[in-house]
Amino acid sequence: MYLTAPQLLAIQLSPNEYGVDYLKVVSLVSARPQIIKEAVIQEQLQKHGIQEVLVHSGQHYVYDMSDIFFKVLKIREPDYNLGVGSGTHGEMTGRTMIAFEQVVMKEKPDVILVYGDTDTTVAGALVGAKLKIPVAHVEAGIRQEPRNMPEEINRKVTDHVSDLLFVPSRLAVENLTREGVTKGVYFVGDVMYDLFLKMKPHFDYSVIDELSLQEGNYVVVTIHRDFNTDDPVRLKWILDSLRELSKQLGVVFSMHPRTKKRIQQFGFEDVLEGVDVIQPLDYLKLMGLVMHSAFVITDRGGLQKETYFCGKRALVVMPDTGWRELVDIGWNVLGNSRCSSLGLIWRLSDAWNCFDKTLEVSSLRWGRS
Ligand code: UD1
Repeated sequence: MYLTAPQLLAIQLSPNEYGVDYLKVVSLVSARPQIIKEAVIQEQLQKHGIQEVLVHSGQHYVYDMSDIFFKVLKIREPDYNLGVGSGTHGEMTGRTMIAFEQVVMKEKPDVILVYGDTDTTVAGALVGAKLKIPVAHVEAGIRQEPRNMPEEINRKVTDHVSDLLFVPSRLAVENLTREGVTKGVYFVGDVMYDLFLKMKPHFDYSVIDELSLQEGNYVVVTIHRDFNTDDPVRLKWILDSLRELSKQLGVVFSMHPRTKKRIQQFGFEDVLEGVDVIQPLDYLKLMGLVMHSAFVITDRGGLQKETYFCGKRALVVMPDTGWRELVDIGWNVLGNSRCSSLGLIWRLSDAWNCFDKTLEVSSLRWGRS
């Protein structure tokens, strides 16, 4: 029998009283990948009678990047919004720490719950550690190159100051062991798959009609990592590749505000001629779009997995991935240079029909978190 994450929390924090009435959790979210995980965790905490105070840092603040996810996934309004907004990493991390510390001192939780790898995650974990309040990290143990990417720094620091590490894959357990982190590590599975199963009946396929796309004949693109957007040469080769691809297949680019800003700043607007550029999509619309796509091109962590859940393949525009299992079995492919990416795009287009769509990754435990 697998214990759920809230049960593990309860046992860890009140070993003598498995009745968990008095347990109080403060959860901290900020961006899409965390908000969607919160949708699953919130339901489970309620089910187990654990009191939750929900805090939004405000790192993501435009409607399409935050509010819409609360709406479509029916997550209750946060109890606090710290209004942190955008800025340098130091500014965002610092502002979050200052404001979050006040909330934590007032609420006096038994545990602080942080998710994933954003600046908000590391800020929340540091506040908990310094106040000597146990920190639980959901999606702990993920590692990837380059080591200097902001998310990788956030993951490492968070894992090393957390007391409870809820780990989604065997590889993540191994990563932690290699770094000497073995205490409080629980291989609980992946909450993203729980969410996928829960929401599948509600996926929204409307964008396919709105853009007059043909099923199986278009590619879904999301690009937002700093190493892809902030270097004009690299951003240009990505955009050039997409334009070339759009001569053969529909290309739908769901564009993050950072990417939009950089394209304007570098004067690359015309490069995307032939590509359908759309606003960031909510979870249900994005999943609906991916379900009927040919494949996906992305540098998002979660979307690489969700594409697999949808039975589709992803070209991952990164030097490395935290979900290496999916690359090792040949399902997803890493494309890190213009040349290799274009070649891989064609390979993906050709290979799809004869690919074993039933492939399972045994080292990942999907769902039941
Ligand atoms: C952050 C996370 C990343 C996660 C992603 C989800 C960090 C270091 N990275 O990246 O792991 O995958 O969120 O989207 O925390 N912006 C807006 N409106 C918003 C949000 C952002 O205009 O609501 C623009 C701002 O110009 C901002 C830029 O996007 O400076 C980057 O935002 P930021 O939160 O720093 O990082 P993300 O690229 O979104």
